[in-house]
Amino acid sequence: MFGRQHLHRGADHGGAGIQPLQVDAPAGFDQRSRHREGAAHGVDGSEGRRWGLGAGRHAGKSGGAGVKEASPPGMVPPPGPGIEEGGGAARPGPRTPAGRTDHMPAARGAIPAAAAMIALGLAGPAAAQAPTAVQVIEAFEGVVGPIRTHRPSHAKGTCAAGSFTATPEGTRLSVSPVFGGQAVPAIIRFGVGGSTPTASDTARSTRGLSIRFQPPGAAPWDMANISAPIFGAPTPEAFVENLRVRRPDPATGRPDQARIDAFVAANPKVALQGRWLAATLPPASFASTPYWGVNTFRFRGADGEVRPARWVFEPAAGVARLTEEQMRSLPTDFLAEELRGRVARAPVAFDMVLQFPGPGDDLNDPTMAWPDDRPRTTVGRLLVTEVAAGPGGACDRISYLALANAPGVEFSDDPILRARPAPYAVSLSKRSQQP
Ligand code: HEM
Repeated sequence: MFGRQHLHRGADHGGAGIQPLQVDAPAGFDQRSRHREGAAHGVDGSEGRRWGLGAGRHAGKSGGAGVKEASPPGMVPPPGPGIEEGGGAARPGPRTPAGRTDHMPAARGAIPAAAAMIALGLAGPAAAQAPTAVQVIEAFEGVVGPIRTHRPSHAKGTCAAGSFTATPEGTRLSVSPVFGGQAVPAIIRFGVGGSTPTASDTARSTRGLSIRFQPPGAAPWDMANISAPIFGAPTPEAFVENLRVRRPDPATGRPDQARIDAFVAANPKVALQGRWLAATLPPASFASTPYWGVNTFRFRGADGEVRPARWVFEPAAGVARLTEEQMRSLPTDFLAEELRGRVARAPVAFDMVLQFPGPGDDLNDPTMAWPDDRPRTTVGRLLVTEVAAGPGGACDRISYLALANAPGVEFSDDPILRARPAPYAVSLSKRSQQP
């Protein structure tokens, strides 16, 4: 299918290679078609009206447990600070150990005894002290080495280009020029999770879909999405501390596994994304996976309403994942070439689908997915029409998400989202400097 046959199980810098695992997908998580189903799920009467989506039009699978009565439209007050349980969003965990986590090496090993955690002084959630951009970058560099030429996360990538056209529903739900309804040119980057440009395309890590929208006559708007429905840390503090505990010990040149285990035990949400990845086969193509925005944004509609929402880019081609055999036999690099072949035949399409929260859903914790039965609506279609012939290109000079707000799609109070733009900008500046 893809020519060369040799095994290269890539391990990210500082991280352990993830072995293929014979596992069942955890309940509520995709293996093959679930997200297509999810996209088709519509809005039941009360939830549709709640977000002003129009009852009946989106009618589909009825809202599940927890949907009680329609609340007034508008922004739901965010939950308080700290690590919280997402109401109704918790799902049964898989039977697998934590695997590779986006933006950091894998959380490995067994949870140590409480006594060991106490001895290490790590028996508690990460302290609530918001890290600065410099501290975030230092934490990255402590694990992956100095940022010189490539991104510390999703270092491997392929530039592409295309356009985005909003649906009438998208135009109604956002006043952003991106959702004006005309075809908006886009500079796109498909990435492979990990801190090295030699990361393996068969690894159980995330794939990325980053988009710079360039509406004519208006400011550009960036986003970076991943092929997992949740992120690897609930707060910036936990994110940074999770990197810091992975810093190699100068004496041994290796990270202290007991310290990592203790941190993960005290901050279990940092293991959720890794578990999802360990239980989910990697995408067979950049074009055959959903990409989640993960963070909550506020959509300001033409009607003046502000609606909290998360998005997912659903592949028009459907979801297809590698088999265990393909994970063993495919080469390290096949995704870019496979995408080139597809796009040469026809544009590759993704539908941008918004998901709206139900009562109790946590708006501010991207480690907690909202249940699949929440209202959804399609707000636009992304077409990928060109793929760079080789490495490099226009996307390399972009740090996706260095630009914070688009009018009409504003940041929520999600602290992880708010922690992103500054380190992205610092990272771009470091990797753009001439040697
Ligand atoms: C504390 C929160 C986060 C921090 C500090 C952080 C930091 C970074 C940094 C420094 C980069 C490299 C940027 C560059 O050099 O251009 C990056 C890239 C990336 N991040 Fe994050 N990130 C965070 C959260 C997230 C979340 C929640 C997602 C999921 C949607 C995400 C997805 C990505 C992707 C896809 C890339 C590659 C972008 C590209 O293609 O250029 N990040 N991140």
